Amino acid sequence: MSAEASNSGSAQVRGDLVGQRRGAGPAVQAAVTSSPDGAAALSAVDLTLGFGERAILSGVSAEIRRGAVTALIGPTGSGKTTLLRTFNRMNDKVSGYRRAGDVLLDGRSIWHPGVELMSLRRKVGMLFQWPNPFPMSIMDNVVAGVKAHRMASRHGLKAIAEERLAEVGLWDAVADRLKDSPFRLSGGQQQLLCLARALAIGPDVLLLDEPTSSLDPNATESIEALIRNLAPALTVVIVTHNLAQARRVSDRTIFLYNGRLVEHGETRQVFENPAEVETQRYVSGRFG
Ligand SMILES: Nc1ncnc2c1ncn2[C@@H]1O[C@H](COP(=O)(O)OP(=O)(O)O)[C@@H](O)[C@H]1O
Ligand SMILES: [Mg+2]
Repeated sequence: MSAEASNSGSAQVRGDLVGQRRGAGPAVQAAVTSSPDGAAALSAVDLTLGFGERAILSGVSAEIRRGAVTALIGPTGSGKTTLLRTFNRMNDKVSGYRRAGDVLLDGRSIWHPGVELMSLRRKVGMLFQWPNPFPMSIMDNVVAGVKAHRMASRHGLKAIAEERLAEVGLWDAVADRLKDSPFRLSGGQQQLLCLARALAIGPDVLLLDEPTSSLDPNATESIEALIRNLAPALTVVIVTHNLAQARRVSDRTIFLYNGRLVEHGETRQVFENPAEVETQRYVSGRFG
């Protein structure tokens, strides 16, 4: 099927869903209002930001589809990390940071005075380029967020740790050393531990910033398989400079270049039938 045909197919499905909702009761109406097309978990709305004089992102608008894996691609310095960090307000305290435009989570500004940073971070988790276990035991790492958010009793912690470590495929490797330091684990295992920690607080959205760039191919494969399995229960945004990875793991792709969103669409379409010349040049490896 051509990208165009599949696009119009999904537009048709969306149209049908909207049509069904129109006749629905008030509760459903409210849900539609909070997420205009009923499908965006997170939206950047004409987002322009910079540090000091420098503009980093210019007029970026994008609806991140709920339950999908969205890849954020673009050459180094194009603003991928900055955009990702903005989604859970990690730039707010950076000196010289200035912003216009908005980011909506479930239809509400993440800077709305009623939004507490802690609750935002609970909904929007993040995994970084380099694994960053905390200087505490493996077990305490997994449940660090659960404790901070007071999400379980002391007695429940061990079960949560086991469940999450099993979910990321790490349980067998660490079951007999839960009290040990995480820093003797391999890089891949440390990243899986950080993923278990992020998942333990039950986020709606998971932001991944080049999560496999420091890992070997086996660890990369494990993480990619996990990412695929997280959707559609979770909405995932993954920054990657690895185009093959973007194609393997994502449903949708955003191409950022020089702080501007050049193209956003189904991954297959962006790679096989890009609408923009710059996208064509980038995905065919002619720069970046
Ligand atoms: N805290 C900061 N202060 C000033 N400039 C920054 C800061 N963080 C990032 N930048 C600049 O913003 C641009 C985009 O960076 P980044 O978002 O990290 O790009 P990418 O992840 O696509 O490589 C780069 O030119 C970078 O130097
Ligand atoms: Mg980056």
